[in-house]
Amino acid sequence: LSRGSTAPKAVLVGPMGVGKSTVGQLLAERLGSGFRDTDDDIVASQGRSIAEIFFGEGEAVFRAIEKRAVHAALAEHEGVLALGGGAILDEGTRALLAGQRVVYLSMDVEEAVERAGLKADRPLLAVNPRKQWRELMETRRNLYEAVATAVVPTDGRTPGEVTQAALDAL
Ligand code: S3P
Repeated sequence: LSRGSTAPKAVLVGPMGVGKSTVGQLLAERLGSGFRDTDDDIVASQGRSIAEIFFGEGEAVFRAIEKRAVHAALAEHEGVLALGGGAILDEGTRALLAGQRVVYLSMDVEEAVERAGLKADRPLLAVNPRKQWRELMETRRNLYEAVATAVVPTDGRTPGEVTQAALDAL
């Protein structure tokens, strides 16, 4: 496995609300590196919120912007990188992850539905009733597994425990 000197130490994927940002920051501390989140990169580079892009231009435009953000972050960032929960829906974005250490933070589908429902600022939930969200999770699970080099279940674990499990899996 060869990677450039600026490749991330770990890329975190998984559904919204699983704790990618929390665990990503803890993991970065433990690895003595920085943490970066492509959602933040998109907001910074676009100068508007994820919801504004999503509702203003649609999901396809958002995914294209997201793919460019993932490409740039993979090339520039040497620490821990978290991707948005739906980044893996794009085939091109999935291809970018080949050769990377990709940790899938997983959680039980029902848990995911519950936790995601608490985050009102996430555009997908406003347009997806509960049943559709459950179906969406079922679809995405295969895609997370397809890109992952390690799977770390988060159910019943604290962020610290998940971080340790991710370190062990790297
Ligand atoms: C999305 C997840 C969000 C954000 C956008 C779409 C998704 O990221 O990219 O709202 O499709 O699951 P988080 O997983 O960081 O919430």
